[in-house]
Amino acid sequence: MLNIALPKGRLGEKVYTMFEKAGFECPSIKENNRKLIFENTELGIRYFWVKPSDVSIYVEHGAADIGVAGKDILLEYAPDVYELLDLDIGKCRMAVAGKKDFRNPSQRPLRVATKFANIAKNYYKSIGRDIDIIHLNGSIEIAPILGLSDVIVDIVETGTTLKENNLEVMETIVPISARLIANKASFKFKTKQIERILESMREQLKEQKK
Ligand code: PRP
Repeated sequence: MLNIALPKGRLGEKVYTMFEKAGFECPSIKENNRKLIFENTELGIRYFWVKPSDVSIYVEHGAADIGVAGKDILLEYAPDVYELLDLDIGKCRMAVAGKKDFRNPSQRPLRVATKFANIAKNYYKSIGRDIDIIHLNGSIEIAPILGLSDVIVDIVETGTTLKENNLEVMETIVPISARLIANKASFKFKTKQIERILESMREQLKEQKK
């Protein structure tokens, strides 16, 4: 049985379509219900929907053989998994943003609100700027508005959230997209099935680019 962790939500649906095209269909997954695990025993495949930020945890621990996770999560948590392929979907960027009238305080550490503490720390270390991290779990954009932080480090996709809160991007740290990842032992022992998926996905990406 090959276990595949899919990120719940719109991205996961796109990802499932790629697996389907690779020949690993599981029609029951399209039934509209609240089940989280779906099997196609004939094909020896089992899908499960997990919170996008949890995919790499399932894969790292071998509860899933493969899965699809955002580069943001891979950079932040550095799970011990193989990153097999950039799927070129779920594209966005990790950026520093702040109020339009932001002035960089020179006499003290910069206060940075974020869900991505490690990405933020690494970025500011690379440019030699001292920071204090304010770790939040969501709605990060509120922090600079209320004076909780000077800037935020967060995901920007369309830019609408920033715009509607009168914030703007100041620096792009890194582009983000969804990646196919594999558990290291699974890659060794289930090579054939995983390679088949990998090959098909590579082909699908080539086709899209034509
Ligand atoms: C993410 C991110 C931004 C928003 C960016 O939030 O944290 O708030 O999307 O998207 P945009 O540029 O298209 O507006 P998410 O919806 O994941 O929720 P969160 O508040 O829990 O981070």
